[in-house]
Amino acid sequence: MASVHNVHNVRRDVPLPDDRSDLPPEADHPLVDLPDEELRVHTAETLERARDRSTTLTEAVDDDDLVKQHSKLMSPLVWDLAHIGSQEEIWLVRDVGGREPLRPEIDDLYDAFQQPRAIRPSLPLLGPAEARDYVGQVRRKALDVLEQTPLRDGDLTRLAFAFGMIAQHEQQHDETMLATHQLRRGDPVLHAPAPPPASALDLPEEVVVPAGPFLMGTSVEPWALDNECPAHEVYVDAFAVDTTPVTNARYAEFVEDGGYHDRRWWSEEGWHYRSVHDINAPRFWWREDGHWWRTRFGVHEPVPDDEPVVHVSYYEAEAFAAWAGRRLPTEAEWEKAARYDPATGRSRRYPWGDEDPTPRHANLGQRHLRPAPVGAYPGGASPLGVHQLIGDVWEWTSSDFRPYPGFVAFPYREYSEVFFGPDHKVLRGGSFGSDPVAVRGTFRNWDFPVRRQIFAGFRCARDVTAGV
Ligand SMILES: [Fe+2]
Repeated sequence: MASVHNVHNVRRDVPLPDDRSDLPPEADHPLVDLPDEELRVHTAETLERARDRSTTLTEAVDDDDLVKQHSKLMSPLVWDLAHIGSQEEIWLVRDVGGREPLRPEIDDLYDAFQQPRAIRPSLPLLGPAEARDYVGQVRRKALDVLEQTPLRDGDLTRLAFAFGMIAQHEQQHDETMLATHQLRRGDPVLHAPAPPPASALDLPEEVVVPAGPFLMGTSVEPWALDNECPAHEVYVDAFAVDTTPVTNARYAEFVEDGGYHDRRWWSEEGWHYRSVHDINAPRFWWREDGHWWRTRFGVHEPVPDDEPVVHVSYYEAEAFAAWAGRRLPTEAEWEKAARYDPATGRSRRYPWGDEDPTPRHANLGQRHLRPAPVGAYPGGASPLGVHQLIGDVWEWTSSDFRPYPGFVAFPYREYSEVFFGPDHKVLRGGSFGSDPVAVRGTFRNWDFPVRRQIFAGFRCARDVTAGV
């Protein structure tokens, strides 16, 4: 059966030759002008923020819980903790610092490529006390290396790239550990205040992004990862995009309209996946007394109407979009909606400008344990008026994870290159569980289209006719 989404496969999200570029270049990054001492302080604080969060996530449960596998999809929390230390040791202590290995015998245990998640609990892992001791020792050495290392040149060390990469790595594992907490059964152990209420009311349903080229990716962001580089010009046809992510209330309409049982809305792979796993609603939802309820970090509560839907797979997002007569945005469309400033033609670091995220801009960093209602962050809107692109929920795009033209693997092929191809879909924008250091307008996440335990939702888009 032909499915609606296939109609939209022909897109003009194509790079243009460099000699046709007349777009203004990216602005210099603020880190470039920081004196060395301030750059070191900023870097050390960023590493410490990650460690504080790892500590919160691993001290919230007892030792039995730390070594247990809460889901076959996830590692025991104690594996994540020591893996964080192991990567920090390999990159900062040994590679950048040239120091002696602390625990070379555990390298293999914490190599994510050698040890699939399902078998991690059966490995002779460091126990909780040993793992904490290990990551503490590594951190002391890494901070010493930071003090001693010149930060103005060298691919790994310029503007403290390797330290920024390791801070992002730790924060990414913290988000994974947060997802493990969501899968864990038992009473709530994590606590945080509610996010702000909606303050931008009566937002238009969608925003039109005009046709034309924009600069996608980055060549100047000092802590950008290899897959975000280099900056390149991409022509994007005019399209309309939802002003906010799709809400629970809207998603529930799809569910109640029988969307999960109507083959028309699903791709072949999506329908197969839905059928085999008997999926009938977002993960963690259930129906009781005529209402939708959800479990959120151990709390049972009614599903709030005005929050972005979360814990849906790519296939569910795609089916919803087809049901709604729309489609998912391509990755280029998402980034253009987020970064393109029509007044200058320049691509910004974030929708609101070049300034790092603050609590005024976006729901990031596990400050709140849920997405915020739509309209809660008018201060984070893009110049075209698109809201909540950064934070709240990762947003599925229709794009496969592919290298940009001119991609060079750095610092190792296993960071991105081995994941390129049709198996992974790109997600953009970060979630309430992503730290600001690990989210940018250019940041690319990727996952299998079946994934639901991640903090992923989506927004829809549609073609608009030429001349709009
Ligand atoms: Fe990792």
